[in-house]
Amino acid sequence: MTAGRPDLARAGLRFDVGAPAPGAATITLDRSQRRNAMTPGMWHGLAAIGQALPPEVRVVVVQGAGPSFSAGIDLRLFTPEGIPGESLVGAGDPGFEDWIASVQAGFTWLRDPAIVSVAAVRGHAIGAGFQLALSCDLRVLADDAQLCMKEPALGLVPDLTGTKDFTDLVGVARALELCLTARTVSAAEAYELRLAELVVPGAELDGAVGDLVAALLAVEPAVARATKELIMQAPRNTLEQQARAERRIQAQLQRFRMRSQTEPIPAGEDQPGDAT
Ligand code: CAA
Repeated sequence: MTAGRPDLARAGLRFDVGAPAPGAATITLDRSQRRNAMTPGMWHGLAAIGQALPPEVRVVVVQGAGPSFSAGIDLRLFTPEGIPGESLVGAGDPGFEDWIASVQAGFTWLRDPAIVSVAAVRGHAIGAGFQLALSCDLRVLADDAQLCMKEPALGLVPDLTGTKDFTDLVGVARALELCLTARTVSAAEAYELRLAELVVPGAELDGAVGDLVAALLAVEPAVARATKELIMQAPRNTLEQQARAERRIQAQLQRFRMRSQTEPIPAGEDQPGDAT
């Protein structure tokens, strides 16, 4: 089904619950005539989707309509004419950092342990578009994908949560090089840099994403959530801390599974892995 949200359509977004399979949902950046260029309205729309995600959704696919994933921020926002109904808050305006936090909210929720997010990237993923792909847990790239962190070339730092996962994945030196040179990374290089889990011919992208989603959904929801919670804390934990987390989350998970076999668990009750 397609959730009827006219505000999302105006923001250039489509949100399809049950696609590509029951238990999943697909977010489509849907402004292909502008290569899915992004606006504050689109970022707030992404945040709204995250805030009201139906509880049955366990996998979220993010894709772009047409030949590009996203050409990044809509450059008309920087022109005197601007875009009717859309505006950037400037550094000299009150609440600038709070406003950035409000648009970052469109990106952060994709890491929530309750879901696995998958970016399906064909063509360009530039600036904010690249940061959106980086916000997803997994990336499947068409072989024509081109990734570019363009912000510093435009006088900006990447501030849509793209520097954390990027640096964790490729390391400090490579992240610095790619940001400061705004060099375009091909799909093949992205795979080598661990920025992609899979690269496939463009015609096979949807099929490959569908297969991945099916595999992710085959795992019990509570097990998937607890595993993601555990894996996500591994990079910042010592071995001792991680071993302790494994014991704690395993105990929570198995108690939860035993309980759920004998009684219905009320909606909203803590899931295993919640307390870290
Ligand atoms: N903003 C507004 N319009 C854009 C756009 C953008 N970022 N990117 C593309 N478009 C528009 C083009 O102006 C063009 O419109 P018209 O048909 O009206 O002329 C249409 O989309 C198609 O674009 P192209 O003809 O250029 O398509 P292409 O396939 O030849 O090239 C492209 C695609 C490489 C993405 C190229 O359009 C491009 O370089 N776009 C600009 C990319 C960019 O610099 N983005 C800013 C990133 S930084 C950022 O995002 C900052 C942040 O986080 C705050």
